[in-house]
Amino acid sequence: MRLCLNIDHIATIRNARGEDLPDPVTFALMAEQYGVDGIVFHLREDRRHVSERDVRLLRELVTTKLDFEMAAVDEIVSIACDIQPELCTLVPEKRQELTTEAGLNVIDNISNIKNAIERLHKREILVSLFVEPDLKQIDAAAEIGADIIEIHTGNFANAISEEEMYDELERIRQAAIHAKKIALGVNAGHGLDYQNIKEFCSIKDLIDEVSIGHSIIARAVFIGIEKAIREMIELIRNYK
Ligand code: PXP
Repeated sequence: MRLCLNIDHIATIRNARGEDLPDPVTFALMAEQYGVDGIVFHLREDRRHVSERDVRLLRELVTTKLDFEMAAVDEIVSIACDIQPELCTLVPEKRQELTTEAGLNVIDNISNIKNAIERLHKREILVSLFVEPDLKQIDAAAEIGADIIEIHTGNFANAISEEEMYDELERIRQAAIHAKKIALGVNAGHGLDYQNIKEFCSIKDLIDEVSIGHSIIARAVFIGIEKAIREMIELIRNYK
């Protein structure tokens, strides 16, 4: 299970002052040195995190892989086609939300999502759809040509009892098994942290990649980027 780091919140801190620091691109390059397998960013329509300047510099400088998260809207799809990241992850986007709140409703938005997938595929970009651990949504993702799904782990991360957490983990496990059976790649993310990653690793053989942002950046504020990243990598690697 590879670790990709979402750098959006470094951009959020920079944007709070409307100045240049901290630079999310520098952070991404340091994170690569400390062992992450890829860099994730979400270019939102309102540009609240990373900017186009960040995205273009990341494309030039990142040597691992870029996962470009975005809504399936024409303007952002065009930027992705131009940048050509290794992966685009399509997510739902609402103006008022603090963060992505749930998976895509693929079934009700087939034509829009399919059109985005087709445009990205023409540029040889792999496409992942961020979905709930719901077999019907996963089947729909495969039918319209997605290469990968990213399973939303938010309900697992926010579970308020052990029972709820294990139920949700089981749903994710079943969803990952199903996705693999129909030849989809399986990523996962949202709300994963230094505690819940230990339970999550019980299904790590079914997951190709996790996308983690907030918990690593929050920890980096206290103990530094290098330690925060290496701690997470060790938790994943050393799980038995
Ligand atoms: N995956 C997706 C699709 C997301 O939208 C986010 C949040 O931007 C993440 C993963 C990472 O979530 P977190 O910041 O809670 O680790």
